[in-house]
Amino acid sequence: MNSNALQKRVMKNLKLSKQRLDQLLTSLGYASRNESKKLIASGLVTVEGKQITKTDFKAFHHDVLFDGEPLDPVQGIVILMHKPVGLVCSHDDGEGQIVYDLIPARWRNRDPKISTIGRLDKETSGLLLLTDDGQLLHRLTSPKYHVSKLYEVTLDRPLQGDEAKIFASGSLMLNGEKSPCLPAKLEIIDATHVTLEITEGRYHQVRRMFAALGNHVTALHRSRIGALTLGDLKPGEYRLIDWETDSL
Ligand code: URA
Repeated sequence: MNSNALQKRVMKNLKLSKQRLDQLLTSLGYASRNESKKLIASGLVTVEGKQITKTDFKAFHHDVLFDGEPLDPVQGIVILMHKPVGLVCSHDDGEGQIVYDLIPARWRNRDPKISTIGRLDKETSGLLLLTDDGQLLHRLTSPKYHVSKLYEVTLDRPLQGDEAKIFASGSLMLNGEKSPCLPAKLEIIDATHVTLEITEGRYHQVRRMFAALGNHVTALHRSRIGALTLGDLKPGEYRLIDWETDSL
C-alpha cells in the first residue's frame, strides 16, 4: 500500500466510533464472541498501550493491539488477487480448493463476509477482486456498471478472420441469452492468441463468445480490470488495495 493509501486508511479508522473490544475482535474474525472474551480476559489486548481485560471496554480500532500487533483493517477491505488455475470462486469448499483458501483464515471469519467481485471460472487465471464492502460489490457486479476487463485468450483453432468485426458489432447472441453482447474489442497476437476486452460479466462470457463462432478457448487469463493490473503478483498471491486511491 502506498503512503497516500495508508494515510487515507488511517484517517478512515480515526473517524470510526469506539466499539466494544469483544465486538471488534469478533467482527474482524479473530474468534467467536465467547472466545474473544476469553482472549481479552487473558490479557492479549492493549488499548493505547495499557492492558485491558474488560471485554465490554470501548476503544477506537486504531488504538487496539492484539498480541502486540495492530488489528486487521476495518470493514471496506479490497483484495486484489492473482487467481491460479484450479481454484473455484465459491465459499463452499465441497467444490474443491477455493480462492478463500489463499487468504488468512481470520479474514474468512469476518462479518461482513469477504466475497469475490464477480467470478473467474475454475480453469481461468488472473486478476480477481474480493471485498467485504457490500455497496462496492453491488456496484461493480451490476450490469449497469460497465467496467472494462481484459482477457488473454488461447484458442484451439486458428482465427477465421471475421471475429474482431463480429465482436465489435454488438450483435453477437450467446446461447440462451435474450440480448446481444455489448461491443467487445479483439486484438490479434497470432492465429491462436488474442486479447479480448469486454465490459460485461456474463456467465463464462469469453468462452461462450468464441464457442458462438465455432472455436474453443484452451486457456484464459484476466490481466486487467479497469486500470487495475496484477503488477508483479504471482499466481496465488494477493495484496490489499485502497479503493479510493487505486480506483478503476
Ligand atoms: N469469461 C469466461 O469464460 N470465464 C471467466 O472466468 C471469465 C470470463
